[in-house]
Amino acid sequence: MIGRLNHVAIAVQDIEAATAVYRDTLGAEVTKAEPQPEHGVTVVFINLPNTKIELLEPLGEGSPIAKFLEKNPNGGIHHVCYEVDDIIAARDQMKAQGARVLGDGEPKIGAHGKPVLFLHPKDFCGTLTELEQA
Ligand code: CO
Repeated sequence: MIGRLNHVAIAVQDIEAATAVYRDTLGAEVTKAEPQPEHGVTVVFINLPNTKIELLEPLGEGSPIAKFLEKNPNGGIHHVCYEVDDIIAARDQMKAQGARVLGDGEPKIGAHGKPVLFLHPKDFCGTLTELEQA
């Protein structure tokens, strides 16, 4: 059911330093840092030929990635995101298989302006998993 890998998200303490690693050391194409107060993060996209890396830095009080960075002070992989054609159909099929959908279970508009859902890491090999309607 899942389609392409849309992005891998990496949580970091310092998004400018992390962007420099991808731009200067790895020679990747990077976007400008974009504060997304409604998601509690600042985001930079690293555009690779076959997928994206999403760098996330906490923004404001109660950022959803603050706890993760407490446990992983050097940063680390926060989630992976797969594309699906129909997010409601995908959600219902996942739930029927016993997977837990985070939050109220309804899709939210994500960082790319498309509907997204997050699935419980315990049901997906210890990895927070995002579904995005392509
Ligand atoms: Co994401």
